[in-house]
Amino acid sequence: MDHQLVLVVDFGGQYTQLIVRRVRELGVYSEMVPWQKAEQAIRDRGPDAVILSGGPKSVLEPGAPTIDVSVLDNIPTLGICYGLQVMAHRGGGCVESSSEREYGHRHLTSIAPNSLVAKMADPAVWMSHGDRVVKIPDGSIITATTATCPVAAFENAANKHYGVQFHPEVSHTPSGRSILHSFLFDIAGLRGDWTTANFIEESIQRIKEEVGDEQVLCAVSGGVDSSVVAALMTKALGHQVKCVFVDHGLLRKGEAEQVVKTFTEVFHPNLILINAHDQFFGALKGVTEPEAKRKAIGEQFVVCFERHRDDLSDCKFLAQGTLYPDVIESGSPTAAKIKTHHNVGGLPDWMRLQVVEPLRWLFKDEVREVGRQLGLPDDVVDRQPFPGPGLGVRILGEVTPERVAIVQDADHIFREELRVQGLEAGIWQSYAALLDVRSVGVMGDERTYEQPIVLRAVQSEDAMTARAVPLEFSFLEHVAHRIVNEVKGVNRVLYDLTSKPPATIEWE
Ligand code: XMP
Repeated sequence: MDHQLVLVVDFGGQYTQLIVRRVRELGVYSEMVPWQKAEQAIRDRGPDAVILSGGPKSVLEPGAPTIDVSVLDNIPTLGICYGLQVMAHRGGGCVESSSEREYGHRHLTSIAPNSLVAKMADPAVWMSHGDRVVKIPDGSIITATTATCPVAAFENAANKHYGVQFHPEVSHTPSGRSILHSFLFDIAGLRGDWTTANFIEESIQRIKEEVGDEQVLCAVSGGVDSSVVAALMTKALGHQVKCVFVDHGLLRKGEAEQVVKTFTEVFHPNLILINAHDQFFGALKGVTEPEAKRKAIGEQFVVCFERHRDDLSDCKFLAQGTLYPDVIESGSPTAAKIKTHHNVGGLPDWMRLQVVEPLRWLFKDEVREVGRQLGLPDDVVDRQPFPGPGLGVRILGEVTPERVAIVQDADHIFREELRVQGLEAGIWQSYAALLDVRSVGVMGDERTYEQPIVLRAVQSEDAMTARAVPLEFSFLEHVAHRIVNEVKGVNRVLYDLTSKPPATIEWE
């Protein structure tokens, strides 16, 4: 890709991905690089600007993440929080540990006219640090302070090196976006050449070069990622693309019909539909352990492809909807495996498919924008993320057709009410799960002994963290009332208040 590039050096900060997103939102292509590989990446790739992220360590600790600042000579550089401390520590200044931690909102006082931070309209900034800079690198000037932080920002305009102790990337710093904007455009002189239209054009070109005249298999789920992949591949290659949709019986109510309708009528006529309900339910019989379920479901995808070997054997490529956060996570040396996520669940050897991943540099919101520009319908583009193993991970205990029907009906009521009452905006995911316990209730004059439904609705930016949506009690009561009255087999409804972490978004 021939874009201008901003490399964001990751020192392990919780907001590093957010910095990359903010830069891209401003129309500049950005990638994250772990600090261990940063010096090499900067030498090899010659970025147009560098941003040094925050981080949880102290620069004074032995072995703390760092960078040789001499590689940043002549490159516009912005150090944020820990990044500023690394610039000071390695650039001839001095950092001291402090017993006083500065955390939360602070009022920034600008003390140098015409500096980067002097242009901020709102002086409120978000701080989160322990150590502080007590001596700045030679040639720099202090540009801002707070009541408790004598060096809240410094800069050396001559070599375009800037440091801010606060976090401009978080929404708690209202003028943060303008700092990033000034740094990228006024200081680094970037063009802003990262747009969705450019991305689509370049991807189509790249796909054509990579695939040539060969056939491509696109496994679609109806979700936004695989739909955008299919749309992009089809735009690039037309009938060389074969879309395969496996209906495993673990989809939400009406979803399979909806996917088929969208793909065949609206957008891609070349769809192979595999109805595999019996096969998946057979494989899930008696399986209750969450990882065993995921494994069983993954294996059945392979069996499906195996059975359709004749239809698919001329495919040389497999298009997958891998996104940039997956790429970042799988490259992270510290990422712990919490759950086995899968796209198409592994593939049979005979296919020997080469993988094409046209979305591997995009965030979810960028994928949605690409989908919109490719003309996908709103209900596909705005669809909530849905796990590959489907309702299988929302039914605790054994997955049977009867239990799937219960969860489908409850889920349908919950999401219908959210839609009808105009509450969908701002919800990342909302669903019903079925628990594997029973409790006593009373209906009419009869004792019941049935299963509980859990409702879950979360807000999130990227699924890495999430918070329960504060739904009105009267709304929840109304949904609960409908579910116990309309869904046979359920006599209790709960609302999950737990954030992620410590819980996860899905129950399994
Ligand atoms: P958790 O439950 O780990 O989920 O907080 C984070 C996000 O990932 C989705 N998810 C999956 N997606 N295959 C997928 O394609 C899976 O096995 C899977 N498990 C969870 C989940 O819905 C949420 O958006």
